[in-house]
Order: sequence, then structure tokens, then C-alpha cells
Amino acid sequence: MASSTIDRGSWNSKLGFVLAAAGSAVGLGNIWRFPTEAASNGGGAFLLIYLACCFLIGYPVMMAEIGIGRKTGKNPVGAFKALSTNKFYPLIGMWGVLCGVMILSFYTVVAGWTVSYVFEEIFFFAGYTEWAAWIGDTSNGWLNAFFSIVFMFATVSIITGGVSDGIERATKMLMPLLFIILFVLIGYVVLQPGSTEGLAVYLKPDFSRITPELVFAAMGQAFFSLSLGMGALITYGSYLSKQENVPEAAAWVTTTDALVAFLAGLLIIPAMYMAQAQGIAIFDDGGELLAGPALIFQVLPSLFHDLGGIWGIFLGITFFVLLSVAALTSTISLLEVPVSYVIDEFQVQRKKAAKYIGLGILAIALIISFDTSLIGTLDFVFSQIGLPLGGIMICLFLSYVWKIDSAMEELETGNPGFGRGIVGRVWKIMVMIICPLVIFYNLINNFL
Ligand code: PFF
Repeated sequence: MASSTIDRGSWNSKLGFVLAAAGSAVGLGNIWRFPTEAASNGGGAFLLIYLACCFLIGYPVMMAEIGIGRKTGKNPVGAFKALSTNKFYPLIGMWGVLCGVMILSFYTVVAGWTVSYVFEEIFFFAGYTEWAAWIGDTSNGWLNAFFSIVFMFATVSIITGGVSDGIERATKMLMPLLFIILFVLIGYVVLQPGSTEGLAVYLKPDFSRITPELVFAAMGQAFFSLSLGMGALITYGSYLSKQENVPEAAAWVTTTDALVAFLAGLLIIPAMYMAQAQGIAIFDDGGELLAGPALIFQVLPSLFHDLGGIWGIFLGITFFVLLSVAALTSTISLLEVPVSYVIDEFQVQRKKAAKYIGLGILAIALIISFDTSLIGTLDFVFSQIGLPLGGIMICLFLSYVWKIDSAMEELETGNPGFGRGIVGRVWKIMVMIICPLVIFYNLINNFL
């Protein structure tokens, strides 16, 4: 029975953990979803509420998840089993595994689009405009299926490499690459005509736009972006050594994620206004800024095409490479959740677990490939509602079943005296009372 028969693996260094967890956090949610949510929800006002959600709600929940994982050294289901005798609590972990599977199934399709657009840009600039139009058609089910297979293959290949030789090694290369591309793109875009108007829209807060819906959107976005509520960080925390400082590592991950979201806003919103300066439509019929697929796969490629020349080629290709890299470091963590569950609980070898679970999720992704309207529904159920709900259950379980003092003891391992400091004391109140209440209130408010 014992999990000792299979080596679970561990991180080689704290940096390895931080980069892998930040890789999980930094994804399509930051570079795609955040900027458009911000632009259409009052710019700087959304940014401020989003940052508050990340640091006041997200950060405490992240410490909770990593603490549960590190204490038990188990997958999300095994972790709840290890900390209580009641059969009900592991269902929280099961819910997390289900959310991971469902989110990965649609995330793979969208990630596939980002790869197909690398080729779209290459074909376009090589003069094969008809091929470019063909490969850029996101409503083509067969193409979606093909690129989903490609993306799932890449994800499974990294996961089969194991924790340190697969996930850690890949994220140590991909994350620096992501930062380099992001900085070069921002550097170029903010110096172009039209971009200052975009900067103003993004950074000037319009407080009249703050509504309960906006707070709900910002909180959902923070949960999705920080990869919280489904046990991804319980899983990554389970590979972390006892010597490491959990509050500090979680602070690094939260800050990196918030920073990349902020930087992505500096890139995307000015780029939209740059496109407008070139005569490209950036508002829909209702006068709202274009968001979602229309922005990423129409407005921005048109901008790159119109720019032409060496910068057009460079921006066009590297932008979609940036999105693909960000997506890959996130799909790895989404797949690792069900894989670690099957390895621990059913004693299956990592390679076999990754292959079969990857295939199963791919089957759902193939259905979505032919009916992309499912993406919105799945996103709403499993990320917008599923993750905050998971977050509430994790906070309550930690505080009242495992008990807050036992959790604090775990956080103090690697950070002696944490509980006596201001952050530690605030953390207790946040996890026990404020986070569950605020998240619950937000969810209910939106249903009523
Ligand atoms: N954080 C990722 C993003 O922002 O795109 C998405 C994600 C990854 C959510 C892993 C949840 C997760 F467990």
C-alpha cells in the first residue's frame, strides 16, 4: 500500500519550486485574460482591485495550499485523507482533480491556437497568405484537434520526465525566455504612436466602474491566475523540502504572477490603441473594447501584418511564442494534479499515468475542438465558480479540521517565528475568517 514503492520526486532547489509554481500561475490568464478584463472594466480601478485580490485573498490561500502539500507530501486527495479520518474531506481534493481535468481540456484547445498562430505569422510573412488564413481559422475543428494533440504531447513529454528532470528543468528554461520576450515586446510597443492613449486607459483608474460584478471578476481572475483552489499548489508543495520558507516562496510566486499580469497589460492595451492608430477596429458594435479571441487572433495579428518589415515579423512570431510558452508551463501543472493523484493513490508509474490521463483529457479536448462554444461554459463552471469554491473549502478545512495552529507549525518549519510576526498573525485571520467570507459573499452575490 505504502507510497514508498514509487519515488514521488522532489524539487532540486527553492528556485526550482518558485519557477515551477510561477510557471503554473503565469499563463493565458495573465497575458490574455487579465489585460482585456482590465481594459473593459475601468482600467486602473480593475488593476487595483485585482492586486488587492491577489495579495489579500490569493496569497493567504496559496500559503494554505503549499502548507497542506508540504505537510503531507501527497496529492490533493491523499493530502486531505492524511489530515483527517472523515471520508468526506478527500472530496475537496477530488473536486480539485476534476477542476484540473476540465480546465486542462479547454485550456489545451486555446493553447493549441497559440501554436497555430506562430505558423500563421510565419506563413503570412513568407508570402503564403492563403495558407496563413487557413491555419489561422480557429473554427476549423480538425485543425483545433491537431494542435490540441501537439500541445498535449508536449505537456505529457515534460511530465513523464518527472518533478526535477521534467517540470523543474523545463520551467527553468521557459520562464526566463518568457520574461525576455515580454520585456522586448513592451519596450517596442510603448514607444510607438497611439500607445500612450492605451497606457492612459490602462493606468488611469475609473472608479465609477467598480461594481460587485467587477469585484467578482477580479477575484475569479486572481484565483485562476494564481492557480488556486484546485490543489495545483498542494501538489507542487508536496515536492518541497522541509527546510524551505513557505511564506517567502509563496510571496515570490504571487508577486511574479501579479507582475506578469501588470506587464501584459502594458503590452496588450497600448498595442490595441496602436492598432487603432493604424485604422484597425478595436471596439465591438456595443462600443466595448474587443476582448477574448477577437483581440488575440484578429486585432493583434492585423497589427503585426500592417506593421510588416522586420518588426512586424519579429512581433508577430515572438508574441505567439510568448503565449505558447506561458500556456505550456501552466498545462504542465494542470496535468500534474491528476497524475500525482493516480501515482500516489493507485501506485501507477509516472510514465503510464501521464500517458493515459493525457489521452483521456485529450479525448475531451477533441470534443471541444469541434464545438468551441463549450469553452465559455466550462470556464464558468470549473474556473470562475469551481476554483473560488475550492478555495473556501481549503481555508475552512485547514482552519477547523486540520486546525490553524497545526498549519502554523508547518509554516514555521523553515520560517521560525512566522506566527509571531505581523504577516503570520494576519494570515491566521485571513484564512480562518476573512478569505472564506469574502469569497463566499462574492460567489453568492453573483448568483443573486
Ligand atoms: N494560472 C493559469 C493561467 O493564468 O493561465 C491557469 C491555471 C493553471 C489555473 C493551473 C489553475 C491551475 F491549477
